[in-house]
Formats: sequence, C-alpha cells, structure tokens
Amino acid sequence: MTHIIAMVNLKGGVGKTALSVNFADYCARNGLKTLLVDLDPQTNATFSAMGVEEWDTHKDKNGTVADLLGARDHKSADGQRKILSDVVVKDLLGGFDLIPSHLDLFTVDLDLAGKPNREGRLKKALKEYLENYDIVVCDCPPNLTIPTQNAIAASTHYVVPVSPDFLSAIGIALLKTRVADFCDDLDHEIELGGIVLSRVGRPARKRAETIASIRGSFGTEVLDQQLTERVRVAEAAEEAKSVHDMGDSSAREEFDGVSAELLARFGIQV
Ligand SMILES: Nc1ncnc2c1ncn2[C@@H]1O[C@H](COP(=O)(O)OP(=O)(O)OP(=O)(O)O)[C@@H](O)[C@H]1O
Ligand SMILES: [Mg+2]
Repeated sequence: MTHIIAMVNLKGGVGKTALSVNFADYCARNGLKTLLVDLDPQTNATFSAMGVEEWDTHKDKNGTVADLLGARDHKSADGQRKILSDVVVKDLLGGFDLIPSHLDLFTVDLDLAGKPNREGRLKKALKEYLENYDIVVCDCPPNLTIPTQNAIAASTHYVVPVSPDFLSAIGIALLKTRVADFCDDLDHEIELGGIVLSRVGRPARKRAETIASIRGSFGTEVLDQQLTERVRVAEAAEEAKSVHDMGDSSAREEFDGVSAELLARFGIQV
C-alpha cells in the first residue's frame, strides 16, 4: 500500500513546506520511491527543489499540478488533459520525484465552480501511478480550499506542523475537526500521522508554556522530536538544496529524527 501524506495547517509559515521537502528527501535517500506533490500556488516546495528556469521550461512543455486539477487554460494544444507521467519531474535532490505547482492554482476554486468531483481530481490522477511509489507527500497551502481538499481526499494520513506561538497553537483543534468533518462527508478514512513542533526558537511570548500546552492537550499525537529554528533551513530552501546537504549537522539530525519518527508511525521500515 502506498502511504499518502498531506502536510496541512490553516496557519501560514509554520514549516509545512520545509518539512514536506526534507521529509521527501529523507524518504528518497533511504530507498523509498517518493513523490512530492506541490499543491500550493505559492510554489514554495517546487522552488525549494528545482530552479526557476527549469520549472519555466517544464511548466510550458509538460504542465504542472494545475493541469492535473483542471485549472482554466491548462490543456495541451489538442485539448487533452495532461496526465501524471507528463507533469512529473524525476530525481530531484536526494532522489524524489516532484509534481510542481503553478500560480494559476490561486483561482482553481473559481475555475472548478460547478464542475464534478472537484476534490477528487488528484486522487484520480494518482491512481494508476501509485504502484510506482512507496510514499507520496502533498505540500498544502495554508487554507482548506480545493488544492488542500484534493490532498486530504487522496491521503491515508495527514501531518500538522505547528510553530509554538499562541496564534498558531489555537488552530490545531479546529483543523482536526475540519478534516474529520470533510472526510466524513466524503466517506474517506484518514489518520492523523502526527503533530510536529516546528520552527521552535522563533521569538514568541510564553513559548515554553505554549509547547507544554500543546503537548498537554494533544499527548502522543505530538511527535517526541521537534524542529528548531535554524538559519541553514531557510537557506536550504533559497538554494534549492535539502537540509541534508547544508553542512549543519544539528539541523540535519533534527529533520532526520522527525522523518524517522513519522515513518515509524506510518509503519514503514527503511
Ligand atoms: N526550522 C526552520 N528554521 C529556520 N527557518 C525555517 C524553518 N522551517 C521553515 N523555515 C523558513 O520559514 C519560512 C516559512 O517556512 P515554510 O515555507 O516551510 O512554512 P509553510 O507553513 O509552508 O508556509 P506557507 O503556509 O506560506 O506555505 C520559510 O522561509 C522557511 O525557509
Ligand atoms: Mg508552504
């Protein structure tokens, strides 16, 4: 069975993309056939893994996730919808494949208004290709619009990175309820893979109390390991490198530790 993981939080800037890219990188380096899907119109995961010029050529020739979801004007000259094997970029960073994103995803909710199966399009696009992958990681935008809905509807698990400041912490319970209600409506089963404390050390009032409160409220749902705010992590994204290749052993050990703990929770051995 292919494990499909949605990285979600309604809050922005909590480290969803950093974890998506570096978790995918960890999986690939440890021999898992890994696909990263960038579902965020901000295209941050895409540009954390490949160069802008390379993306520019690829999006015109091969298409992006916007084609898979059926965003407006995303069709080839003969009017055919692109399929996953067209849009995938092979063997990035530690060896994962990527479905890159596109800015046009910003309006996909409007483009698909009134269209059938709006939240089931990624699942449908992935269907025939899942046998090629052990794990699929979906990086989501900070909201619950159509791209995130597609990720959740396709996924077996979701993971919630949380930055331990007051405003980030108050949304976790709401998010869990929203995901549960959405999946109930779709009759789709999904498991919470874990809550990951991320960007720990960013200036925040009462940080220690917030961490204690999150661990107290969500218990074993919170991973033991956590990710500290470290400058090399942000630089890795800017340089389209993985944290593994940035020469900061503490950052690498943390991302490796969180990734290993997630895989153990999914029951995947590497
Ligand atoms: N552990 C970390 N240490 C330092 N910087 C980090 C860390 N994790 C993420 N960042 C940086 O913080 C910023 C936000 O992180 P990231 O893009 O991963 O968050 P996000 O939740 O995906 O945001 P969005 O909701 O906008 O998609 C980025 O510049 C990223 O490089
Ligand atoms: Mg992001």
